[in-house]
Amino acid sequence: MSTALEEHRLAIIGAGVMGTNISALALGHGVSVVLVDVDEIVLETARQAIRQKLRHAQLMGVLPADRPQGTLTTSVNLDDIAEATTVVEAVTEVDKVKQEVLSAASRVVTPGTTLISNTSCIPIDEMAEWIVRPEDLVGVHFMNPSYMIKMVEVIRGPRTDPAVLEQATELLTVLGREALVIEDSAGFVINRLLHPLINTAAMLVQEGVASVEVVDGLLEGCLGHSTGPLRTGDLIGLENLVDSLNVLYERRGDESCRPCDLLLEKVRDGHLGRKTGRGFYDYGKVAS
Ligand SMILES: NC(=O)c1ccc[n+]([C@@H]2O[C@H](COP(=O)([O-])OP(=O)(O)OC[C@H]3O[C@@H](n4cnc5c(N)ncnc54)[C@H](O)[C@@H]3O)[C@@H](O)[C@H]2O)c1
Repeated sequence: MSTALEEHRLAIIGAGVMGTNISALALGHGVSVVLVDVDEIVLETARQAIRQKLRHAQLMGVLPADRPQGTLTTSVNLDDIAEATTVVEAVTEVDKVKQEVLSAASRVVTPGTTLISNTSCIPIDEMAEWIVRPEDLVGVHFMNPSYMIKMVEVIRGPRTDPAVLEQATELLTVLGREALVIEDSAGFVINRLLHPLINTAAMLVQEGVASVEVVDGLLEGCLGHSTGPLRTGDLIGLENLVDSLNVLYERRGDESCRPCDLLLEKVRDGHLGRKTGRGFYDYGKVAS
């Protein structure tokens, strides 16, 4: 059964790149959001980023004109997600962090609340093990920027309740997204293909085969990749990329997923991509 717009109460845990993206998407489609992170400084930065993303989305004409914006509430207290009808987990791509957050969140919400993980690579069924009701968890891989990219990869875990899957896809329809549903597997479809590609692109630069610009230029010009893999890495955030590659490498043992030295060096030096103003490219200033 479909839920009216005003009956959706979304909680998002993690106010980084994706938490702010998904918040902007939801608010711009009239859905109110409770956004939770670990401290007030992160939340202040997140509020600014969300305002900027909403302005960008409006300028690009990708928000419905006939709906008032949702209301944003921010909090450092996980108990504030208790009234949510759907919770989106968008915290750091590290098992231990996700386990703590998902386990705690599943104890706060009422049974039947849809729990979504925006994980890049961790299999949904591994995470289902950490929560009170494994059947309440579904994977929704929002893209970045979430308000610009319409297509969303939805991951049905082997234990995901069909009603939970339906609730999640219904929410995506309210948010103007198009869902394609796949079965559970480390990296799913998108990142099993994309992350080794970015890693290999970085290896080509590391080996001196081609410059950053030439690698991206070839992928754009010859294969129609819209931004090039290395610029995409900068958009994702290189530390998140390394975490996700580690998840893939640990589970698949595929050498193309072992983060290359150049990526590790950039993360060690704090050059994480757009979020720090420098990664493979120099952005001159911190870009959201
Ligand atoms: N960056 C991308 O382009 C992208 C795209 C799709 C999916 N993802 C996935 O989305 C998730 C978030 O990625 P991101 O790029 O936004 O990372 P990020 O590092 O920008 O943000 C993660 C946020 O989680 C917060 N956090 C950590 N522990 C927490 C806790 N215990 N409680 C509340 N908040 C906590 C951090 O403070 C941080 O603000 C990851 O699983 C990532 O793999 C990322």
